Amino acid sequence: MKVLVVGGGGREHAIVWKLSQSRHVDKIYCTPGNAGIAEIAECIDMDSSDFSALLDFVKYEWIDLTIVGPEDPLSKGIVDIFEKEGRRILGPTKAAAQLEASKVFSKEFMKRHRIPTAEYKVFTSYVHAADYVRMKGAPIVVKADGLAAGKGVIVASTVDEAMDALKLIMKNKAFGDAGNKVVVEECLQGEEASFMVFTDGKTIAPMVSSQDHKRVFDNDKGPNTGGMGAYSPAPVITDELESIVMKKVMNPVIKGLKSEGIKYKGILYAGLMIHKDKPYVLEFNCRLGDPETQPVLSRLETDLLDISMAITDEKLSGINIQWKEEASVCVVIASSGYPGKYEKGRTIKGLDDAKKIKDVMVFHAGTAFNNNEIVTNGGRVLGVTGTGKDIKAAKKKAYEAIEKIHFDGMHYRKDIADKALN
Ligand code: AMP
Ligand code: GLY
Repeated sequence: MKVLVVGGGGREHAIVWKLSQSRHVDKIYCTPGNAGIAEIAECIDMDSSDFSALLDFVKYEWIDLTIVGPEDPLSKGIVDIFEKEGRRILGPTKAAAQLEASKVFSKEFMKRHRIPTAEYKVFTSYVHAADYVRMKGAPIVVKADGLAAGKGVIVASTVDEAMDALKLIMKNKAFGDAGNKVVVEECLQGEEASFMVFTDGKTIAPMVSSQDHKRVFDNDKGPNTGGMGAYSPAPVITDELESIVMKKVMNPVIKGLKSEGIKYKGILYAGLMIHKDKPYVLEFNCRLGDPETQPVLSRLETDLLDISMAITDEKLSGINIQWKEEASVCVVIASSGYPGKYEKGRTIKGLDDAKKIKDVMVFHAGTAFNNNEIVTNGGRVLGVTGTGKDIKAAKKKAYEAIEKIHFDGMHYRKDIADKALN
């Protein structure tokens, strides 16, 4: 079979890598891909928002399945367009992807279906939002309604910070129309975890748990990023908690959407805050997490193509998804300046030495070729992923491999997975 993967980050490298192990896959295309993906797939430089060009490509190359990595094409309806043309594609429709694309939709949906989440209010007026923030006090969380590449959420520890966030989003329009509405919500305390499931709209199959590290610096300091590292499993998600999440979050979401006439197929991700053994939803994503996918797919035993086909055929109940008992830790190496303005084009050295280490996979994110060299081409550059019998062993592998890698200005957190070790 021929598969097209849409995207070019660490998550997509992990998807392509897993697919490359499938006994059914003959050829993988990836658009746009990156320098690491290019080793196992044919990278095609196409604009992933140009759905008609993607569709033409899929028809011309007789591609059997398209897998969409990022949220943008999903929220703009790539699945609806492909399905209308009878093409097999993995991901939710535009209506279903609103769970991620609109925080307002997602909060109101959770309220309608009694899914546990932080208390909130929605505002279209800066003045009213500011009054509410003053009344509530800090800490408080300000969220732009629409997609903002993970930067539209500000956890404000003072009222001034919250005001600045409101100004940034509502007055300065830092995220454009994504800031036409804001959600102002209660700041939850506890420990965060990422919980992802595969679903065909009927069966919901949980993946192994994971935990992201959103802040740029050690000890969760500095601004939020797309994610600086992740590990799996996350001990905070006990078996008992997993069944609570399925019962209180995942099942009600899929059922609730169905009751509103929306079928959800693909991957559903809940960002959770665990407080006193209870889960609260911080956000939904309609896709695999990045970097959570890197450690999670590293632990997947079952053929990803089989799972993908079962989802699109709505036969997920027929698959028994197996996971490896081992642990996995992914440490992201970022460019100087990230998550702010960052540099590109720095030569990356030591990749071959890092790759040679047993139980290590170096997933590429923002990388490209420049002549015969691999250079940096994004904020998050690599996701160095180690596996081992437990988190401690996996972490050791990841950091051992990082020692081999160098590019000017590189930075990474030294404390990924420490929370799981305490
Ligand atoms: P979101 O995109 O909504 O997940 O927000 C990004 C990050 O902001 C989350 O992963 C949390 O670290 C933090 N966050 C979001 N909402 C809240 C909340 N209500 N209370 C505390 N932290 C939050
Ligand atoms: N790592 C968080 C996300 O993928 O949104």
